[in-house]
Amino acid sequence: MVKSMSLTLSYRIQKIEESKTARFIPLMEKLKRQGRPVISLAIGEPTEDTPSPVIEATKGALDRQETRYSAIAGLNELNTALADRFPDSRPENIVTFNGSKQALYSIFQTICNEKDEVIIPVPYWASFAEQVRLAGGKPVFVKTKNHQLDLDAVAASITKFTKAILINSPNNPTGAVYPRKDLERIAHLALINDLFLIADEAYNFFVYDNQPYASLYDFADVRDRLILTRSFSKHYAMTGFRVGYAVAPTQVASAMVRLHSHLTGNVCTFAQHGAIAALEMEETLLLRRRKDLQRKRDLAFEQIKPLFPCIRPQGAFYLFPDISRHLKNGETSRDFTTRILEKTAVVLVPGEDFGMDGHVRICFAAPDDQLLDAFNRIREVL
Ligand SMILES: Cc1ncc(COP(=O)(O)O)c(C=O)c1O
Repeated sequence: MVKSMSLTLSYRIQKIEESKTARFIPLMEKLKRQGRPVISLAIGEPTEDTPSPVIEATKGALDRQETRYSAIAGLNELNTALADRFPDSRPENIVTFNGSKQALYSIFQTICNEKDEVIIPVPYWASFAEQVRLAGGKPVFVKTKNHQLDLDAVAASITKFTKAILINSPNNPTGAVYPRKDLERIAHLALINDLFLIADEAYNFFVYDNQPYASLYDFADVRDRLILTRSFSKHYAMTGFRVGYAVAPTQVASAMVRLHSHLTGNVCTFAQHGAIAALEMEETLLLRRRKDLQRKRDLAFEQIKPLFPCIRPQGAFYLFPDISRHLKNGETSRDFTTRILEKTAVVLVPGEDFGMDGHVRICFAAPDDQLLDAFNRIREVL
């Protein structure tokens, strides 16, 4: 057969890899079909049910035939309710997306030109790097110190090509929560260097030990350069609804709406009604969920301590232990997770997938018995 030169894929798509955490789903399904008692601590999603007010509101919207196209930026009622939560914001500053993943994709498409650099602290959620590349930009990785921001390293990585600094707090995969004083310094760096700031706050609700949550949005003087994303996925156990949003300066928000109008149009209309109900929910249930996740964090942390060095996460729902002393004969963290998977049927994510070898990510938002069973299995193998 003649090899066709015109059927090659675009350079853009050749440059990126599939989402690494999503890659575990078919593998897990395969092991399950083989009858193995698989425990997945790989996927970052709460395991409990979606709250009933959300389900009822979504069903209600379906019963009312809310099944048509709706406003591209999001339902006015939803965007107004979201804008009310951000001082100085109006509904025009809110764009609702199919998950905050799509919001982030759209941000990079909207702000990056060829050669533009986006500073990303390591370890990082893998989609950031690929999304920047897809937009033609260049991810610039900066080291962290004990999972906290290394502010001098961030400052030193700013070049004439830097377009934005991306901050993800609470962090996936480390669970680190950045203190206000560090965010203030990041805000200052953005101001003096005239950069965009991107704040991924997908886990903003999951901050433990009664710590106050600091957001880059708290600094009024950077709101005209800040693009913030949040999500209904984790906060309200609505991962499959695919509703997230961006809060952005008007010019950026309207550019993202233009992109959205060609990409997907509106987010599923009845899912947005579910999201409106989520915002109206009483806090009690949500606070109970957060307390339970804090308890799971403590349970998982006690289990992990004797096995690997690990920094106690202050937020999100991941542990990111250092497994390097268990690596045998040049093994990478990916080899390690494969060994654990084959021997124990426990699915973990290798640190390499987050730009940091020698670590693994363990999601503790799992039923207690599964968490304990998984740690027992890992302990036996080690
Ligand atoms: C750091 C971070 N940002 C964004 C997302 C995207 O979440 P969603 O698209 O469900 O809102 C995730 C999901 O795992 C995440 O971990």
